[in-house]
Amino acid sequence: MRGTRVEIRTAALAHNAGRARRLAGDAELFAMVKANGYGHGLLTAAQAMVPAVEGFGVAVMEEAVALRDSGIAGPILVAEGFFDADELEHARRRSLEVVVHSLWQVQLLLAKPAPTRIWLKLNTGMNRLGLRPEWALQAAEQLAAAGMKPLGIMSHFACADDATDSVSEKQLLLATEVAQRLQLPLSTANSAALIRYPHARGQRVRPGIMLYGSSPLDWQSASDLDLQVSHRFSARLIAINDIQPGESVGYGATWTAACAGRVGVVAVGYGDGYPRHAPSGTPVAVNGQPTILVGRVSMDMLTIDLNGIDAQVGDEVELWGDAVAVDAVAKACGTISYELFCQITARPARIVV
Ligand SMILES: Cc1ncc(COP(=O)(O)O)c(C=O)c1O
Repeated sequence: MRGTRVEIRTAALAHNAGRARRLAGDAELFAMVKANGYGHGLLTAAQAMVPAVEGFGVAVMEEAVALRDSGIAGPILVAEGFFDADELEHARRRSLEVVVHSLWQVQLLLAKPAPTRIWLKLNTGMNRLGLRPEWALQAAEQLAAAGMKPLGIMSHFACADDATDSVSEKQLLLATEVAQRLQLPLSTANSAALIRYPHARGQRVRPGIMLYGSSPLDWQSASDLDLQVSHRFSARLIAINDIQPGESVGYGATWTAACAGRVGVVAVGYGDGYPRHAPSGTPVAVNGQPTILVGRVSMDMLTIDLNGIDAQVGDEVELWGDAVAVDAVAKACGTISYELFCQITARPARIVV
């Protein structure tokens, strides 16, 4: 057996949700499980977190319908709302909460008024999705007149994870003003804001990445934040090669040995979802011993430095998990853990424990 696998830890998901629960205080906790539960499995993630949360957040209707039809009975928020009249009907039938972020959605609602669970999304400076405050006030009035009073106001922070964030306070002020004028609950906080800005909790928080054992903040590790590893990616050593000074390794000969040593070949590559752009120096661990990737990542294999490492063919190499923080791999690759989790392919075995 090849042995390339992703281990999903439900106890860690439950622990992390409990951690978010405590930070949320009196606010409702909506766990974001979009993009297949950040790569952990939509239902696996949701079921592990059910006891700690008041509801779940997904991005699109298919995810919401899948959750509802697999027995998640509580509130489900669809962050991109409905894409057309058909999807609006699905949402109404399944009592899903839809985010209304654009005037064309308001028009669809008004064209066929019926009880709908609506969160109005406000653009407070991210300039991605959301109504400008004056449009939101007008839309809320029109919807209420048609018997569809929104349940709340939501917005999304652009820079809550940025050490020099000077944007979130302005966003929060604007969102608070609109929520107060409409006398509606407010929801703004993602993981970074939930951890950093207790005053931004409002009536509902929507963390994602922290639930999956990764820190949203550069300057605080997941373990500092008491988050547990929920996603461990590992593979096996399938060959060990001696290498002489001046010899290079892999496609493009991008890494050359400075001294005699040993290079391990690991049965994992970008065909499994390991990032191809991971540079030489990206951390990995063999039997718990830290070492580094050398040379270019191939589709089915990658190569690691085994100098000074006690290792044999068949031993386990951790790509991320316990000995190698996913956030350290993400940093080395110039990306974020979100992407690493989401891009694992169907090829590695998935073990849910
Ligand atoms: C609308 C919305 N709310 C909350 C989140 C959760 O963010 P994070 O995973 O950074 O906690 C996301 C994720 O991007 C989102 O799009």
